[in-house]
Amino acid sequence: MELPARRLVLFFVVINGFLGLYVLCVSLQIQVPWHMVTDNFRALSDTKDATRSPEVYAAENTSLQTSCPDSIRTKVPLSSFAKKFLETIPVLQWAKYATMAEYQRLKNYPGAHGWGGLQFPLLQSTLSILNTTANRVLLDDWDQRPNRSQCIRCAVVGNGGILKDSKKGLEIDQHDYIFRTNGAVIKGFEQDVGSRTSFYTFSTNTMHNSLHRYQAQGYNGPPLSEAQVSFDISWTA
Ligand SMILES: *[C@@H]1O[C@H](CO)[C@@H](O)[C@H](O)[C@H]1NC(C)=O
Ligand SMILES: *[C@@H]1O[C@H](CO)[C@@H](O)[C@H](O)[C@H]1NC(C)=O
Ligand SMILES: *[C@@H]1O[C@H](CO)[C@@H](O)[C@H](O)[C@H]1NC(C)=O
Repeated sequence: MELPARRLVLFFVVINGFLGLYVLCVSLQIQVPWHMVTDNFRALSDTKDATRSPEVYAAENTSLQTSCPDSIRTKVPLSSFAKKFLETIPVLQWAKYATMAEYQRLKNYPGAHGWGGLQFPLLQSTLSILNTTANRVLLDDWDQRPNRSQCIRCAVVGNGGILKDSKKGLEIDQHDYIFRTNGAVIKGFEQDVGSRTSFYTFSTNTMHNSLHRYQAQGYNGPPLSEAQVSFDISWTA
């Protein structure tokens, strides 16, 4: 099965994923509500095992890609969320993190929060696929875009059906980057949901479910990305 390699993204953990969208979608045409970010953060802190030693998060040197005055990273330090915001936390999982040390740390956390239940060789072979610049930096091609503006505009398009008959497709497609997730059925709905896809995110579980549930609606896998690079990957569902 062919997948969009360059823009196939695994968010590091759920919380980082949400923060990542926030960090990057600076002039918010998108709408991941702020409370969703803070609620997720709270949920994560609340479920932390009190007997475990304090978590030391991984850190990454990230620089601002724009001088957008409205950017989330400009605004967060001025907000009540400032103390909780981990500016240098890595947002993406990619080949660099397939180390035994990182595995030992993250195997303590199950599901979307870590690598609990996952064998190291599988993790290593999976992450080795994610080893391009697009896997390291979310908006790695921004600097090369001819029509870039002061702020990066992102659209995060959900699949709940609210866009049906909205005729928002053109507006969605005019954003710089377009994020889609899980069972995103595009064909036949372009007028309402647009047709471009810059980033496509899913978990193995949601992909599995989407392939079964939305088959009748024409869903047969992730949409192909804007970038022309692709690779072959197979999985058993
Ligand atoms: C982070 O990047 C800045 C600018 O590129 C550099 O000056 C600094 O030394 C880097 N810090 C680390 C910890 O790598
Ligand atoms: C990722 O690519 C770099 C150089 O391009 C290479 O040295 C490294 O071994 C690769 N990592 C994996 C896990 O494949
Ligand atoms: C920027 O230019 C590219 C290619 O020229 C085009 O595909 C894209 O839609 C443009 N983006 C915006 C926001 O106008």
